[in-house]
Amino acid sequence: MNKTVICPGSFDPVTLGHLDVIKRAARMFEHVIVAVLVNSAKSPSFSTEERMDFLKEVTQGIENVEIVSFDGLLAEYCRRRKVDAIVKGLRAVSDFEYEFQMAITNKKLNPQLETIFLTAEADSMYLSSSMVREVASMGGDISNFVPPCIHDRIVEKINKKNG
Ligand code: PNS
Repeated sequence: MNKTVICPGSFDPVTLGHLDVIKRAARMFEHVIVAVLVNSAKSPSFSTEERMDFLKEVTQGIENVEIVSFDGLLAEYCRRRKVDAIVKGLRAVSDFEYEFQMAITNKKLNPQLETIFLTAEADSMYLSSSMVREVASMGGDISNFVPPCIHDRIVEKINKKNG
């Protein structure tokens, strides 16, 4: 097996839960591509550039992590980059059906492609980017949810968006 894996997602914005999965993947594999992708079911609050900047900042110092973005099919990108495993975090039963559907679809599109699930840490079980955005937009404290180095920029952007 190729020792390069990909961690795909919307990362809108990256949370401590995402970062935990990225760090664990970086310990297990030689090279980790973190890919900011289009989820056609969502319209992002942060631009692709902002989401990539946040990811670059929070993964600074992790030598084997690369941040990319593209707007095509994940399965095709993996074929192009010769990546044969996707690594995703699994939080709760509620994630399972959606993640299972994506894993099977990706494998149908690219039979070389396996999906590996890492169970979320207990502290991250409840965490999601949409919760972070909702709490921040209502003036709540998100410091337990996002890495400290990007906290202020997330709050600033969400406050600006809300006028
Ligand atoms: O963080 P998300 O929004 O749950 O991640 C979903 C994502 C972005 C990984 C998924 O929508 C995706 O892979 N998008 C790229 C386009 C694609 O390949 N779609 C088919 C996936 S089965």
